[in-house]
Amino acid sequence: MGEYCIRSYEDGDYEAARTIVSEGITEHVPAGFWHVLRSPQTHGLLLVLFLATYGISSSFLLSFAVVSALLVVGWVHVKAVWRDYVEEALEGDMLDIQRTYLDTTDCHFWVVVRGREVVGTVAAVHPRDPTFQGRALELKRMSVKKEHRGRGLSKALMKAVLSFAQERGYKEVVLGTSSVQYAAQRLYENMGFQRVNAFFPFPSAKLLQFYIYIYRCEIPEPH
Ligand SMILES: CC(C)(COP(=O)(O)OP(=O)(O)OC[C@H]1O[C@@H](n2cnc3c(N)ncnc32)[C@H](O)[C@@H]1OP(=O)(O)O)[C@@H](O)C(=O)NCCC(=O)NCCS
Repeated sequence: MGEYCIRSYEDGDYEAARTIVSEGITEHVPAGFWHVLRSPQTHGLLLVLFLATYGISSSFLLSFAVVSALLVVGWVHVKAVWRDYVEEALEGDMLDIQRTYLDTTDCHFWVVVRGREVVGTVAAVHPRDPTFQGRALELKRMSVKKEHRGRGLSKALMKAVLSFAQERGYKEVVLGTSSVQYAAQRLYENMGFQRVNAFFPFPSAKLLQFYIYIYRCEIPEPH
């Protein structure tokens, strides 16, 4: 950790924490679109559209234009999905961080700082899924600024959440991440989390094979 330190969220961290969380979500737009482009369903749809347009018009140019237009629509749709998720975060739990996380029993929000600069965030909250309530805490809002990655900061933030849950007698920590958040998946798997469930978060996600993965990690009894 060296010059970095993890501490509880303070009011003065508000803007920085919201920016780090929203940027950490938005950066997955290109990976999300690439995921769509690679899916066999997309290849099939583009091929059918190309052939149908060519069959009707006998114009290669028009067929390419229609396929290109569909790709633009796809890009806009993927961007809208991530933008909605950012809005949900900023207008939801991240709107009043103090109230959501600091004033609620067994919830918390941490930041990692270098000097006075906030460079990473993580939170613990009661899970929404009733099957986990009472026995698990949910890890959320894990995000590290790009310039400070690869230095073990997210591992340290995860340890803070795991110790917090352990001290309060919870049996496990759960979390959700998407199928295109590859670094996060490696992080959680390397920290002992196991994937226990996967679901499609919105109707078109099934077509795009875009999953939310649920991970859980059992924590030992406190000494
Ligand atoms: C995921 C994220 C938090 C990792 O932060 P970090 O501080 O760079 O991670 P660390 O340096 O602590 O690395 C911890 C482990 O994560 C995994 N990891 C981190 N970056 C990785 C990458 N680019 N590719 C693959 N694995 C990666 C590795 O397992 C690594 O352990 P190792 O160094 O022993 O191999 C960061 O990339 C991020 O903020 N991403 C955007 C927001 C996000 O997706 N958050 C997850 C929300 S569910």
